[in-house]
Amino acid sequence: MTEVVQTPSQLGTQFVPRVFSGIQPTGGLTLGNYLGAIKRFVDMQSSGVETFYCMVDLHAITMPQNPDDLRRATRELAAGYLAAGLDPAQSALFNQSQVPEHAQLAWIFNCVARMGWLNRMTQFKDKAGKNREAASVGLFAYPTLMAADILVYHATHVPVGEDQKQHIELTRDIATKFNHDYGVDFFPIPEPVIEGAATRVMSLRDGTKKMSKSDPSDASRINMTDDTDTIAKKIRKAKTDPDALPSEADGLADRPEARNLINIYAGLADKSVDEVIAEVGGMEFSAFKPQLAELAVSKLSPIATEMARLMEDTAEIDKILRAGAEKARAVTAPILAQTYDIVGMVS
Ligand code: AMP
Ligand code: TRP
Repeated sequence: MTEVVQTPSQLGTQFVPRVFSGIQPTGGLTLGNYLGAIKRFVDMQSSGVETFYCMVDLHAITMPQNPDDLRRATRELAAGYLAAGLDPAQSALFNQSQVPEHAQLAWIFNCVARMGWLNRMTQFKDKAGKNREAASVGLFAYPTLMAADILVYHATHVPVGEDQKQHIELTRDIATKFNHDYGVDFFPIPEPVIEGAATRVMSLRDGTKKMSKSDPSDASRINMTDDTDTIAKKIRKAKTDPDALPSEADGLADRPEARNLINIYAGLADKSVDEVIAEVGGMEFSAFKPQLAELAVSKLSPIATEMARLMEDTAEIDKILRAGAEKARAVTAPILAQTYDIVGMVS
């Protein structure tokens, strides 16, 4: 296990590049999580910068969770990260609640962020639904904890899917206001990293809706634990239009379902959309779908198999998370202590 390099995260006004991202352990993992987040986390771990990847269990309880399901989902998400190639020797992998500085910094940020800023968050509006009065205070304050997740590492880069962009913008606003209010240059202004062909994987039943674990139709998504036959069947039944695939990427503009399948293909094959179109342009869906299914199965089923194997030994997973949390705290404890000092807490 490599040691966390205890370089100062702040060199003058220069921040050492550092990557942080998190996923909520709620329900199973989908192909959207894999292509939009996990696969990119894995790709970033060998880029020569420190990487911190988190299961945000404190975020999960902003909506009601059954405790046993939460424990299971946390371990399964860890298994998903590991099976997808995340190496605990290169990245710190841990659950949020084992690194208390996240929640501690979130409190400070609750006192920095403004009600008006949080009122604009679309994820809150979506999740709270019509009855906002009944939403938990935690659901409303969710973004300040997310800002703390990132800034307690002085992280500079945050790989996420498209839907998280607004939260990263809020994180930047919080960092800016903190620095301004206290007259310091303490927190970096982190950048969202939203790249690749599949930053927004859409439902297989409706190309205008995001693929989501909460969609009532299981056919709308590919779960990371789906077996070979299920994956192939879901792709075969995916909604399409009657035309053949276009010969130029522009031809996908008004064809959300075709575009989604091409994006998925590109994401899985590590190719650009143009490269994929060069290969499969002009094909009928009846010929393209089996090819996509074969690619999906070849990439996803080894991950599913490895996840199942890892889930047989949850003690081993817990050990990895404890070690990851320790690595994380070597970074977060000094940053929180400095924050307290800036704010005027006696220690
Ligand atoms: P969630 O499952 O909503 O907690 O999201 C965890 C991570 O996966 C975030 O970085 C999301 O942006 C990403 N993600 C979730 N669903 C999708 C999707 N359909 N397409 C791309 N990225 C996604
Ligand atoms: N809000 C993110 C989601 O719903 C999860 C998350 C929590 C996160 N803290 C984070 C993502 C910090 C990136 C960085 O997917």
